[in-house]
Amino acid sequence: MSILNALTKPGLPEHYKNLSEEEMVKRVEVIKAEMGERLYLPAHHYQKDEVVQFADDTGDSLQLAQLAARNKKAEAIVFCGVHFMAETADILTEDHQTVILPDIRAGCSMADMADIHQTERAWTKLQSRFGDTLLPLTYVNSTAAIKAFVGKNGGATVTSSNAMAMVDWSFTQKERILFLPDQHLGRNTAYELGVPLEAMAVWDPITDTLEYEGDDEKVRVILWKGHCSVHEKFTVENIEDVRQRFPGMNVIVHPECSFDVVERSDFSGSTKMIIETIEQAKSGSKWAIGTEMNLVNRIIQQHPDKTIVSLNPNMCPCLTMNRIDLPHLLWALEEIQQGKKTNQIKVEEETAYYANQALNRMLDRA
Ligand code: 13P
Ligand code: SF4
Repeated sequence: MSILNALTKPGLPEHYKNLSEEEMVKRVEVIKAEMGERLYLPAHHYQKDEVVQFADDTGDSLQLAQLAARNKKAEAIVFCGVHFMAETADILTEDHQTVILPDIRAGCSMADMADIHQTERAWTKLQSRFGDTLLPLTYVNSTAAIKAFVGKNGGATVTSSNAMAMVDWSFTQKERILFLPDQHLGRNTAYELGVPLEAMAVWDPITDTLEYEGDDEKVRVILWKGHCSVHEKFTVENIEDVRQRFPGMNVIVHPECSFDVVERSDFSGSTKMIIETIEQAKSGSKWAIGTEMNLVNRIIQQHPDKTIVSLNPNMCPCLTMNRIDLPHLLWALEEIQQGKKTNQIKVEEETAYYANQALNRMLDRA
């Protein structure tokens, strides 16, 4: 859904803005109890606590996709996350199941950095330069149209949990990969697998050009020039600063952070990996976390026996994840109760068919 389309949809009715938290909590609890298994409420780890408290499951992108694919009972799936996650859930669930995103404006700025027209133009140019040697891979943080393009061209989706396995697999299929839309996850993953930086080129979708100065024969990975506006806020200076202030500090970051940040960190991984690493860490250990603020704050609260700080002291919220709040959740549930499908996420049939191929190539290996 384009931003313009989203803005023309009716937003949260005024009266929800004046309800007390206590009233909203009570009404959500009543609806959840009444609907039972007819309702499924998955939430991404970046969601606010006021939403997470009602989640049937929480997870990283891979877990949420797997859980959606497994759920055959719920008539309504109220997806507490961002637009691409709700699209994925719609593609992986059955026709009788309706996926609702409580605030239709909850997009992902990274997913918006690759549109299908730019991608088709890039593919034509890259194929004429490299021949039939390319396999497209897309991070799940992408639109259904990009996933469909990738599926149609033999490629697959990846998440931050399985990027290594998927990039490894793609080199068994073709000589080179085009990795959309996050250059950082692509670069960090390929480097970890032994691809040198000199073998990575960057495709700029704004100028329609390939940024690469070496010999074309050496190119193994073409990185789409996209990024996450939340994770780009973690810097090498943050790491140096935190290590100086807290001797013995461990630094753990999400692989959407830049190459330099990931290289200087002690660990990097998906939200699930970050959560599990801190859970398993020794009492008294020190951690600086480079990921979204709601998750960092939750981890801090859950581990009073450890010293945990945000890697960036100014904290980095994902503004679109934060659009899903208690009033929007209650509104979504009350609309469902009235038989309405407000803010339904429905991927058009042909797009869903090919996007499903890309997702299943990943889920079969995840
Ligand atoms: P995870 O799959 O690690 O939860 O990441 C999703 C995301 O959007 C990170 O910005
Ligand atoms: Fe998108 Fe970044 Fe927010 Fe993740 S944190 S949903 S990549 S904008």
